[in-house]
Amino acid sequence: MKSGFRRISQVLLATCAMAAVSSALAEAGRASPQPGAMSDTDVADKVDTLLAKMTDEEKAGQLSQYFYFSQFPPLAQKVDKEIAAGRAGAVLFTTDPKLVNRAQKIAVEQTRLKIPLLFGFDVIHGFHTIFPAPLGMAASWDPAMVEQAQSVAAAEARAVGMHWTFAPMVDITLDPRWGRIFEGAGEDPYLGAAMAAAQVRGFQGRHIGAPGHIIAGPKHFAGYGAAMGGRDYDEAEISENQLHNLYLPPFKAAIDAGAGNIMSAYMALNGVPATADHWLLTDVLRRQWGFKGWVVSDSGAVNSLVTHGVASDGAEAALKAIKAGTNMEMIPPGQNANMVSLPAAIAAGKLSRTELDAMVRPILAAKFRMGLFENPYVDEAKAKTVFDDPKHALAARITAERSAVLLRNEGNLLPLDHAKLKSIAVIGPLADSARDLMGSWVFPMNSPSGKSVLAGLREKLGTKVAVAYAEGVQIPQRVNPSPFGTLDGTNKKREPIDETAGVAQAVAIARQSDVAVLVLGESQDMSGEMASRATFELPGRQRELLDAVVATGKPVVLLLTSVRPLTIFDSKAAAILDLWYPGSQGADAAVNLLFGDAVPGGKLPISWLRSASQAPMTYARLPSHAPADAFKRYQEGSNEPAWPFGFGLSYTTFRYSDLKVTTPKVAPGHSVTVTVNLENSGKRTGDEVAQLYLHQKVGGSSRPVRQLKGFQRVTLKPSEKRALRFTITPADLSYWSDITKEQVQDESAFDVWIGGDSLASLAGTFEVAK
Ligand code: BGC
Repeated sequence: MKSGFRRISQVLLATCAMAAVSSALAEAGRASPQPGAMSDTDVADKVDTLLAKMTDEEKAGQLSQYFYFSQFPPLAQKVDKEIAAGRAGAVLFTTDPKLVNRAQKIAVEQTRLKIPLLFGFDVIHGFHTIFPAPLGMAASWDPAMVEQAQSVAAAEARAVGMHWTFAPMVDITLDPRWGRIFEGAGEDPYLGAAMAAAQVRGFQGRHIGAPGHIIAGPKHFAGYGAAMGGRDYDEAEISENQLHNLYLPPFKAAIDAGAGNIMSAYMALNGVPATADHWLLTDVLRRQWGFKGWVVSDSGAVNSLVTHGVASDGAEAALKAIKAGTNMEMIPPGQNANMVSLPAAIAAGKLSRTELDAMVRPILAAKFRMGLFENPYVDEAKAKTVFDDPKHALAARITAERSAVLLRNEGNLLPLDHAKLKSIAVIGPLADSARDLMGSWVFPMNSPSGKSVLAGLREKLGTKVAVAYAEGVQIPQRVNPSPFGTLDGTNKKREPIDETAGVAQAVAIARQSDVAVLVLGESQDMSGEMASRATFELPGRQRELLDAVVATGKPVVLLLTSVRPLTIFDSKAAAILDLWYPGSQGADAAVNLLFGDAVPGGKLPISWLRSASQAPMTYARLPSHAPADAFKRYQEGSNEPAWPFGFGLSYTTFRYSDLKVTTPKVAPGHSVTVTVNLENSGKRTGDEVAQLYLHQKVGGSSRPVRQLKGFQRVTLKPSEKRALRFTITPADLSYWSDITKEQVQDESAFDVWIGGDSLASLAGTFEVAK
């Protein structure tokens, strides 16, 4: 798979337009090679020398990570004491360089061995410059760009003193009810693996400790995306078949890309809480995959081994976690460390010193590799210069533009013609909100800045076009307030508006305008952690607002901000453009897309379900007894999604032809090459994501009706043709078998399709046989 991703990046970079974009982004992301990685033996020697000097208590101290909120002085003081006593190896959630240095000073000046702290933070989709929601970035199908986006995020985070991010989140999910679908790459393991590897490379650079980069911690290992009913934290029951073929591949790709850390999941996987799962954390992660970094528990997940009922107290929880392979406990505010009990476990003969040392080693190694013993402090003046680099904003805008997915464009309503437009009505509760464009993993401590779509349109259109605005209706506040809302003020009570009058006002301004642009969807706190939903209806009275404006007969453009497949396919809006949560440059990106200064080229990384009751669903289902939709459809309607996985329109059109399998018969272990011609058959330059799908016809196991096994995003001018070449590797042709309990490659005939979405019809066949 890895070589496939490299191939994709090369193809991407080969196109002229992309090369220009990429070089700007590469510079912005400081993606140039960074020499100077410490050798493994050098690191091991340093770690051993230090370990030899450490007491059991000091070793156990390295295994604790504390939340350190400067806003809550009593909490900070408590953590200061733990640091001074050598009982903290890492902290998280302090991003003010002054406080970083203050806490670090305690560690390196007041503790006996002067071991510096690691500082971690959730840098999920940008730090100060906010990139689109990771699901949106996955919709770009552009791993090279996503790598560069995360290297910009890393540069900004490193500039405030961070060493480590709890990202990328690489959980596959087939269930958009789950709020954390926001953070992942969607439903497909091949696309998910490409995005996982790209993000690790972006965060970490060439090696752990590369200047301007931070350690990546893929999460949540493993299976969190299968939480029952899409309810956060609930258990996941996943067959071995699904675990190996669907949920684990993105983690494997992240580890192969060199991720230095990994986070264990909260929930129980097949009855065993992930943080105490020896099979997962030791057999698979370390023995099979060769992971050399450290495992951090999700916040409070060691303690919750007691809640899960697999440990009777904190000491037993720590022992179970450590024996399973969890190195570090992330300790939520208000809880006490459990790892401090490990020296007593050694004294009682329940844990050997060798076992304890093995868990401390990778944490110390990370500190050496990051250069913290020589240079523990951050330059407090640096952040502003890094944040203000105009290339960062440029990277975020391009990423937002390339992530957007055009779902409908009847009568080629988009792009709007700037020269002809006299008036525009901008409508909706999200139209004048900069914060909602940014999505959920953004806090005041990120110091983000951005503007709303309304402000972006006013800036673009100046006085030549009349811009009228109506909020229309409000998005109701959540019944269960977001836990993060207290941090950024989102939970503050708002004054209600008269929504009936609001809809009437929206209708009135639409009637007086050439076109209505509605910005609807979910507010930023409606996805992310603790943000699941049981319906995909537009929240509140937004649908009523949309229908009322459509009923005016004016052309309607619907801009969506959300990560869920909201139930809007049955609305009569002429154009629908999904922005996901586009980030701090999202308004400019939206305006560029509306007026054709950017052309949508993103494709869905999820099946766009018709309603929440279809969840979970994937395009890559197994063949069934009754293949036709008609035989198994719900009584109320189709079991097909509204828009298929991989779908997305452009302002131009593309034609595929001449699919040729250049190697129609190969022996197992050999690659297959498939070529296809792609032509821009429309009138504008645009991007197409050519997708290759496979189906294994006969073998030991029933295999999905089709599965993504290759993609290339290419830019073509009008009438330009390109011959695309895909190499299908033996890895692409193999799968994990529940019969042999290992990765196998069957002898079989295969169908192959290439096209612009998962319903691609241009087909070929080939055979793998001895
Ligand atoms: C989340 C993690 C996150 C951690 C620290 C947890 O509640 O599940 O994804 O990294 O908090 O913020």
